[in-house]
Amino acid sequence: MDYREFVEQQIAELRNSVGEETAINALSGGVDSSVVTVLAHRALGKKLKTVFVDNALMREGEPERVVKLFIDMDIPVDLVDARADFLGAMKGLTDPEQKRQAITDTFYKKVFGKLVRETGARFLLHGTILTDIEETVAGIKRQHNILTQLGIDVQKEYGYTVLEPLKSLRKDGVRQVAKVLGLPAEIADRIPFPGPALATRIVGEVTEPRLATVRAATAIVEEELHDSAAFQYMAVLLSDKATGIRNNKREFGEIIVVRCIDSVDAREATAVEVPWAKLHRICERITRIPGVNRCLYDLTPKPPATVEYI
Ligand code: XMP
Repeated sequence: MDYREFVEQQIAELRNSVGEETAINALSGGVDSSVVTVLAHRALGKKLKTVFVDNALMREGEPERVVKLFIDMDIPVDLVDARADFLGAMKGLTDPEQKRQAITDTFYKKVFGKLVRETGARFLLHGTILTDIEETVAGIKRQHNILTQLGIDVQKEYGYTVLEPLKSLRKDGVRQVAKVLGLPAEIADRIPFPGPALATRIVGEVTEPRLATVRAATAIVEEELHDSAAFQYMAVLLSDKATGIRNNKREFGEIIVVRCIDSVDAREATAVEVPWAKLHRICERITRIPGVNRCLYDLTPKPPATVEYI
């Protein structure tokens, strides 16, 4: 595919669809939503409003870091604090699909519905890619961003039209487009991070203390595996606990799983042979997080596993 041509085509289509109306998009800092932001900013200029929704599920320092990166590229981004909305919606939920549904509803109906009403935006731009659509349609998983493909009438239910300029691309194609658009390598080559964020890495209830645990583990894993050239790496908090011993006392502690995979486009994946010494170091650091006394390395390929845990 000629990605330059793709960019020109999408810019023309966005201008054509949005006309003189206003469009809004949510930036998460991942490659998909970053590409949509730059593409739409080029197409629409001031007719685009970009927001970063702090859903309480992001990694350490992520909201501020992402907003600054785009402001440095002269793309204005509003930081919207919706932490209480998301935490409230997930209270008591343990079922993976219910958690995803709660995030979808909070994001689109509550937070976005309000922003759309306030801004008068008629269009919502979304970074949905082909793999999201295929897996959702196949019933493998309900990705948080798939609505139209599931037959949901967004115009009727949410009051806006969704535009998905990347829906014909896979991840590798999106990275190519990012390069054509001149996005920094920090974004173009960034490892994938899912829309429902750290909620996909907490098995069981998502609470503030549990988020703090998985956030700390994530920071360690990302720091240690940054140079690994792996497709994706992550830390996951399980809902089970295990007996351990600390300061000569028995402790029933949390279990963190480390996952590091090779993949081309996340449809299939295999575990990376991370050097033993590196794994030991990660384990040692993770088990220093308060309340965590076990650290496991996941060897499972996709399939049968998925990449994320919910
Ligand atoms: P799974 O867990 O389905 O993940 O094997 C495949 C790839 O997709 C990412 N992922 C998501 N990305 N919204 C996203 O934007 C989601 O709901 C979502 N769920 C999974 C995952 O990180 C992996 O790269």
